Amino acid sequence: MFARSQRPIREKIILITGANGEVGHGLIRQLYEMQDTSEVVVLDLSGLDDALTPMVNRVITGDILDNELINLLLNEYEIDMIVHLAALLSTHSEFNPESAHRVNVQGTINLLKLAIEQGRSRGHPVRFLYPSSIAVYGLPDVQTKAQQGAIDENSYLYPITMYGCNKLYCEHLGRYYAEFYQQLSAAKSIGLDFRCVRFPGLISAHTMPTGGTSDFAPEMIHAAAQGKPYESFVAEDVRIPFMVMPDAIKALISLSEAPREQLKHYVYNVSSFSLSASEVADRVKANFPDAEISFEPHAARQNIVNSWPADVDDSAARQEWDWSPDYDVDRAFNEYLIPTIRQYYETSKS
Ligand code: SER
Repeated sequence: MFARSQRPIREKIILITGANGEVGHGLIRQLYEMQDTSEVVVLDLSGLDDALTPMVNRVITGDILDNELINLLLNEYEIDMIVHLAALLSTHSEFNPESAHRVNVQGTINLLKLAIEQGRSRGHPVRFLYPSSIAVYGLPDVQTKAQQGAIDENSYLYPITMYGCNKLYCEHLGRYYAEFYQQLSAAKSIGLDFRCVRFPGLISAHTMPTGGTSDFAPEMIHAAAQGKPYESFVAEDVRIPFMVMPDAIKALISLSEAPREQLKHYVYNVSSFSLSASEVADRVKANFPDAEISFEPHAARQNIVNSWPADVDDSAARQEWDWSPDYDVDRAFNEYLIPTIRQYYETSKS
């Protein structure tokens, strides 16, 4: 067995940044179940939860803004695919917009550049999977939101949060690095194989989001299961699209596996169901009759959620890579969220 630095050939890996976040947790578990993780290297500021560590090849505790670390990855590995999950979510980003910009934009540029360099040394483009968000939209008012229904990928792109601006810009950066990077140089860049999904609000039964503005739904469900009262920071009638984590992971994996020639776009909406805050509360109360849920809207946070669409049009994903969610709203609550969360908190009590 060679020490890492003495290995004669570079190992072929999938690199996952921000792996210790919600999506990272779901993705690592799924790759592990698919028996695909021997070659997963993860990078996260806070390392990786102990339960997940045996499921990956290597955990690097570090910062995507650290250029030396990026160089180390470039030299040490042959990177087959980058799944760039690291980001500061929308509420967190509003408290420190400039540092959000550094993490969300400069961090993404560092990874895009890494992918370009890797592609150059391997002689073919690296797949780069990027999660964007409904936060890229900015509906002007609630009347327009109600009238427009499902919004396609190219309409109402006027985000009102730093996070939304960062995600929209990085969608463009992905397209730019894929097709136009170094377009005036003598040696044309090899580019990269950029693939992006715009997620709705995600709800996991295993983890809680940190610092998002769609968090009122997961917070409401997890609070009820723990017997804690919950005060919603948006009003009853606020509606956005949601998706449960298994479908989010399914979307990432299906998009990563789609033959490149089938993909006519870089950015795809994906959707499964839309709910208002009161509809989430009703479903929670139907399962946890003692749940105490009240509505105390925080005007600025509600304004952010109001600027996001009530629904998104994901027909391009359905047509081009056969996207369809496994969980409609009934299945999401009855077969995934409620039983898993109930069991999780019951086991942790005992
Ligand atoms: N869940 C994200 C947030 O609330 C939106 O994509 O910031």
